Amino acid sequence: MTTATIPINRNQYLELEKISFGAFAPVSGFMTEREFHSVVNEMRLPDGQPFPLPIVLDLAEEQAAEARRAGMIRLVFQNRPVGEVHTESVYRCDKLDVAERVFGTTDVRHPGVAAFMSAGNFFVGGKARLLERVEFEFSEYELTPEETRARFRELGWKTVAGFQTRNIPHRAHEYLQRLALEQVDGLFIQPLVGQKKRGDFAPHAILAAYRTLVDQFLPAQRVLLGVLSTFMRYAGPREAVFHAIIRKNYGCTHFIVGRDHAGVGSYYGKYDAHELTKHFEPELGIRIFRFAGPFYCSRCDGIATERTCPHAGLNSGTIQDISGTDLRAILSNGRQIPPEIMRPEVLASIRDFDLFITQEE
Ligand code: ADX
Repeated sequence: MTTATIPINRNQYLELEKISFGAFAPVSGFMTEREFHSVVNEMRLPDGQPFPLPIVLDLAEEQAAEARRAGMIRLVFQNRPVGEVHTESVYRCDKLDVAERVFGTTDVRHPGVAAFMSAGNFFVGGKARLLERVEFEFSEYELTPEETRARFRELGWKTVAGFQTRNIPHRAHEYLQRLALEQVDGLFIQPLVGQKKRGDFAPHAILAAYRTLVDQFLPAQRVLLGVLSTFMRYAGPREAVFHAIIRKNYGCTHFIVGRDHAGVGSYYGKYDAHELTKHFEPELGIRIFRFAGPFYCSRCDGIATERTCPHAGLNSGTIQDISGTDLRAILSNGRQIPPEIMRPEVLASIRDFDLFITQEE
């Protein structure tokens, strides 16, 4: 058996790392052609276990040819050999058809579709092994699934809710976190810090904002903050199921899915992710907290939901929606965000940061 040496980018390295941490279990390698089509078409692995998104190692044509000749691939990142893949399958696919199934659209203005379409046209599947871990600027905030499970045990948490985010926290996020804290022992806030689209919040701003929220406004001894380094796929409902599976692997017993989870633009219905997580929940091994969008109501004088506020739907003019997209727009224009929407302390803690990702990574 010969070994082909293939350079990989940061996204690919992080996929390798997450696979080897067990963050994507039951997936233990880059998907073979059979696994890929099963996941794309059925949202299940060939053995029937739910898994909604492809985990692939994409290659250019010449690299794929090399991989096909060799039985083994050595993956090189930043000039270091970081991993190995036993080549089981080298394949290509009808990318437009896959994009339509996975993202529900082939529109390249969708950042997940754009990333998929511009990736290599060939894929290599097979068991993957991490040889060396690479440090990043956010590594001090990264815990492996083994480490979080150990922390939850040490803390005596029997039930833990996972919270996914790519934003600095606004009051609707906080409301969802408090709802979960009413019901479970601990909350694991795990901002996603891999590649995101231009205009999304930068990792350091998110972490600084969360440090402030956790230390000053949440019961800090019941909250763990740690990052998930993987790229955003913006696949809405499918990504919500994916995020739930990942948090189960990190030891969470519950996972929060709110409004338009992992959505972008208006490609998905606000509560499509509720429907899809409901469908898979009995098989996921993690309970889903499905929460409808909290908003600010000036009459109630606080954050409320349609289930708790009598003024919603009355056209009373008292309801103010809270949306991450709107808040990013306000902040990037240097305008003020009212305290009932975002805590002034949280805003103050990120004043000196570059808030946004300014270029595609
Ligand atoms: S996401 O792309 O990571 O889902 P975001 O950081 O905005 O984006 O959301 C984190 C979690 O909070 C998701 O479960 C999302 O559905 C939920 N969420 C965000 N904003 C709201 C809102 N205004 N109402 C309800 N849920 C929300």
